[in-house]
Amino acid sequence: MTYEERMKWFHEARFGIYIHYGLYSITGRGEWTMYSERINPAEYARLADKFHPVPGAAKEWCEAAKLAGAKYVVLTTRHHEGFSLFDSQYSDFTSAKLGCKRDIVREYVDAAREAGLKVGLYYSLLDWRFPGYFEPEKYPESRAALVDYVHNQVRELMSNYGQIDLLEYDGGWMHDLDPDKEKQIAFWRARELNAMVRKLQPGIIINNRSGLDEDLDTPEQVVKASGAGRGWESCMCIGDSCGWGYVRFNPNWKNPAQLIQNLVLAAQDEGNYLLNIGPMPDGRVRSEELDRLRMMGKWLKVNEIAVRNSQRCQLISSSQPGMVDLNLQGGWTRQGTTGYWCIFRWPGERATAVRVGARPLQVKLLATGQELPFEYNEYNGKLTISGLPLLPPDEYCTVLEVQFDAVPQIKAEAAPADWLF
Ligand code: GLC
Repeated sequence: MTYEERMKWFHEARFGIYIHYGLYSITGRGEWTMYSERINPAEYARLADKFHPVPGAAKEWCEAAKLAGAKYVVLTTRHHEGFSLFDSQYSDFTSAKLGCKRDIVREYVDAAREAGLKVGLYYSLLDWRFPGYFEPEKYPESRAALVDYVHNQVRELMSNYGQIDLLEYDGGWMHDLDPDKEKQIAFWRARELNAMVRKLQPGIIINNRSGLDEDLDTPEQVVKASGAGRGWESCMCIGDSCGWGYVRFNPNWKNPAQLIQNLVLAAQDEGNYLLNIGPMPDGRVRSEELDRLRMMGKWLKVNEIAVRNSQRCQLISSSQPGMVDLNLQGGWTRQGTTGYWCIFRWPGERATAVRVGARPLQVKLLATGQELPFEYNEYNGKLTISGLPLLPPDEYCTVLEVQFDAVPQIKAEAAPADWLF
């Protein structure tokens, strides 16, 4: 399968939901608790007795993702703490053997398929329980055991759950943070690992966190575009960045406007937005998250044509270095020769974009289908759309659909001072 073929659904989707769930959820202090509080593995493992997600929790995650208008989900099958949410021959520290004694990955995969969502699995290469991760020279046997166990577990995930659409590695960095990629690749035997994955799952998309670039860049907590032709996905917490797993007391939620705007900002550069939720200790989705997801779903119902399968649009600043002053009201996405002006800062009755390098043929308010009058100055590319309602029809982001006679580009400014006269 070619790169384009396997990336097709991913581009169509543009929006996925990340689910961080594990023993750390019980602590209510985020998924790094074991390490940041240096809780030794024997003590930490006691949390497993309390791991009893309600029946149907995985269904709830997938329903929440649907509600949000997402097209895929990604679950942490095993995070850095080492607790596997699946039945594994290579570990006794799993949800199948302890606590609820259920294969949560199986439940999740079934629920996602039933909901019509593409299935993504997150897997952390590092596992804090292995001294050989922290000090490989001092504990060579542990290091070898860790890497074998990783290969074996990845094989299980790729063999036992039917078609997996997306594999998101994490935790591939060296403990000493040596940036040498080849060292990282050698440590995890990543080439061999990914060759095995591709053999077992020929259509799978693999991210870049094993040290190898593979299919996908994965910037964290920021929307940051990769170059043309390269797949990318920004993953982000729905609260602030202090934890991906459940954080019981965190007042710093993103508001719906920020979430919708981030999705648009990713879509305008052909990237995806992977928005994270951290289910509660019992696996249920908290209301602060559900409310926000519902808002996004409501917006997408009206405006999804602006983001799904979107193409890069050259009418905005982010893909144009040095052009940060252009068309700042919002983002621009594109489908062929149609541009979608996603306005974050509603200008009132008229909206103006400058240096628009294609002739507009028709302008519509996506929310109502209402056609809007416009003027276009071919000389300097100034597009003025009038007849807009004084208040934004969608308080978070209102979209104007502009049909052009060609793929819109930024118009070069031959005489930059001309507009002064
Ligand atoms: C990180 C963090 C982790 C989180 C992840 C999300 O690298 O270590 O806790 O799961 O990114 O992508």
